[in-house]
Amino acid sequence: MKTTGKIKEIREYLKNADTGGVALVPTMGALHSGHMKLVEEAKKHARTIVVSIFVNPLQFRPDEDLDSYPRDLESDLEICREAGVDYVFHPETEEMYPRELELDISLNSMADVLDGVKRPGHFEGVVTVVNKLFNIIEPDYATFGEKDRQQLMIIQRMVEDFNHDIEILPVETERHESGLAKSSRNMNLSEQELSEAPHVYKSLKLGEELIHAGERDPALVLGKIKDHIGRHTGGWIDDVQIFSHPDLDPVTHIESDVIIFIAVQYEKARLIDNLLVKVD
Ligand code: PAJ
Repeated sequence: MKTTGKIKEIREYLKNADTGGVALVPTMGALHSGHMKLVEEAKKHARTIVVSIFVNPLQFRPDEDLDSYPRDLESDLEICREAGVDYVFHPETEEMYPRELELDISLNSMADVLDGVKRPGHFEGVVTVVNKLFNIIEPDYATFGEKDRQQLMIIQRMVEDFNHDIEILPVETERHESGLAKSSRNMNLSEQELSEAPHVYKSLKLGEELIHAGERDPALVLGKIKDHIGRHTGGWIDDVQIFSHPDLDPVTHIESDVIIFIAVQYEKARLIDNLLVKVD
């Protein structure tokens, strides 16, 4: 496995390699088995796997957890080595942003909901860095997790809008046995919070059950979810909403597939999760 923090070097490596198709797995490090599921999916499509590790300051707001975001490059490299990754690109901030950008990407309706509203500028930061990574690595494929479904949907749209010749591979959310979605941010939960956090997913499953049992009023489903969170965890609901799939439109009556999105704020970590609920 080759590793570098330099753009010039990763380009040289890839130019001189007989790649047999390149798949990029963009990450912010603190790698766990959820990220490795992306690597597994990537391997089904391409022979050369590139993992990028970069905690992108552009997608954090000043009051967010950029400083406390977990970082452990040595352990990340070991995990990548064991997973059979070919290249790890781990640039410093100055390498990615040597000066202030002149060009700003702004988003329209897809960032007018959920984390686009709760975290203004977040998706602009994501789209900017992913664009740069796509231009640096020039992959044939790139993987993104359904755990961050709004991000995945926005990236799919960006690839269309900007004509990137890259196939986006969505990957199902990897969970602990308890149902808790694997996340680098789980490390910032206290023991007590960690024991309560599986209720985030349980509340989504409760919503699904209600819909499958015939409930069609989103307000009622959301009410029951809020009630469940209130009774089972000390975390407070920052956001919980139901949108249509795949258009991300608001829903007043559930009549086809929907996604339930939830964000729960704990002392030092904001956890997000979502569930696609199929409606016949
Ligand atoms: P990060 O949070 O490190 O996640 C990297 C990728 O792993 C994302 O596509 C995310 O959806 C996926 N992922 C995280 N947890 C997962 C889980 N439990 N199951 C399946 N996939 C999971 O998302 C980012 O970084 C950044 O915004 C990035 C795209 C790298 C741009 O900076």
